This record gives sequence, structure tokens and C-alpha cells, in this order.
Amino acid sequence: MIVFRKSEEAEKGISAIRKSGKKIGFVPTMGALHQGHLSLVEHSKKENDFNIVSIFVNPTQFNNSTDLEKYPRTEEADLKLLEEIGCDAVFIPTVDEIYPNGSHSEKFDFNGLELQMEGKFRPGHFDGVGTVVKRLFEIVKPDNAYFGEKDFQQLRIIQQLVKSEKLNVRIVPVPIKREKDGLAMSSRNLRLTEEMRDEAPVIYKILKESKDYFKNHSVKETEKFAKKLFDKTALKLEYFEIADEETLESAQEKPDSKHLRAFVAAFAGDIRLIDNLRIK
Ligand code: PAF
Repeated sequence: MIVFRKSEEAEKGISAIRKSGKKIGFVPTMGALHQGHLSLVEHSKKENDFNIVSIFVNPTQFNNSTDLEKYPRTEEADLKLLEEIGCDAVFIPTVDEIYPNGSHSEKFDFNGLELQMEGKFRPGHFDGVGTVVKRLFEIVKPDNAYFGEKDFQQLRIIQQLVKSEKLNVRIVPVPIKREKDGLAMSSRNLRLTEEMRDEAPVIYKILKESKDYFKNHSVKETEKFAKKLFDKTALKLEYFEIADEETLESAQEKPDSKHLRAFVAAFAGDIRLIDNLRIK
């Protein structure tokens, strides 16, 4: 497995591989890899000839400095996992490599997608994501790039970024990978206390119960139902919202949506978890 640490090296190395006629698959990550990330790599391996993962904890997408400091960094274990599953290359840049002129975000217009849900609670977060993903795409120039549906709003934002910036890459959504007890896999799960780790699977349980409830109730009633269920748990709910999958607008204003998804953000102690489930 090739390890690139410099942007220039990565750009040159991958460009030579592309010139040899190989299709490039790319999985951008912030490391602390788990089975969810590996499933993105497995998807990439099926559709490409050369597969590269980036590991970069992007400072511009954190709106809380403690969260950035405490973000798990497990490079050695990550490299071992990637080697084991037959990844071809990994790109591990420093902050200066990605942000040679200082770590600032570009300002994007994501057609309103950035104003919904996460956007209300994490100001500037999606500008940070858009900035780093655009920069990584410029370096790697992948044919296909893989993003998990756990961060569904991020996925939609990146699809919009590709469209508005006319980037030549196909974005491939990959379904959420869950632990046996239903908890959506996330690098943040490593930071849960034992008590909160036991409690956290209730998020998926409530999503599933809400999906059932929604069969015979309105959006408003279902959101109320879910919130009441969260009140009985040890988690602190930030939002439970049913939204249109395309525009991410609240389903309360979009009764004719083709697909609806329920979205959750909740604190398990100090750790903020998100999850979602298609309900229509
Ligand atoms: O989903 C993530 O891990 C990050 O937001 C991403 C897409 C790698 C950008 O830093």
C-alpha cells in the first residue's frame, strides 16, 4: 500500500496511475476507521481499479475546539486495517499540506441544503466540509468517491458541491453500517462511556418505531411521538425531524415528497451522535 503524505506526491502518483488507464476510487475519511469506512472501501474496490483512502482530521469543519482536539487519531491501526482489506493507497496530509494559506473555509451556497438540521446547530460546518472535499478532489481527481448515508446531509451537500462546482466525479452513496445492537457505526462511538454505549442503540430503536408509527400518523404526530420516546431515555435530543430526501426541507411543508427520511441528533453524555432512516 502506498502512503502519500504530500499533496504534490499524491497528485503526481495518482495521475500516473490514471494515465495507465486505471479507474480511481476514493474514500475521504477523518481516520479512526471502523467497519463503516471499510464498507465504503469495499464498495470502491468493486467499481475501480485503484482505491485510495484519505485520512485527515479537517479543522475547518469543527465548530468546537474540544471536539477537534478529542477526535480520535489512530493512524497505526487505520493503516493496518486498510492494508488488510487490500486498499492500494492512503493519503495522510498535514494541515499545512491541505491549507497552505491558513485553515480557512471557502463560503458555499449549497442551495439551502446547508440551512437545514445540522446547519442550524453547527454553523460553518458544511463550508468546512465543502472546502476540504473540493481540495481533496483536486488532488486525487477520482472517478468515483464514496460517502456513507449516516451523514446523509453531508452526502447531499457533496452531491450539490459537485453539481455547482462542475466537478468531474461520481458520488456514490453507501448505506449505513450498524453494530449488532443497531447503533450506527461512527468514530465518535469510541468516546462513549460504557453507560452511554449501552444506551445509544435506543436511537435506531426509536427511528424504527417512528417508521411504524408514521404508517398511520402525520409527520407532526410522528415527530411528537419520537420526541416523547427520547424524553424517556438518558440521551439529550437535539432534533428529530422528518425531511424530504432531496431538499432536506421539513416534511411538514412537503406533503408530496417522494422519499422522506427521519433524522436524529442526540447527545449521549458529551458525545453528539447522528443517525437517520428512510421512512417513506
Ligand atoms: O465524513 C467525514 O469523515 C468527513 O466529513 C469528510 C467527508 C472526510 C470530510 O472531512
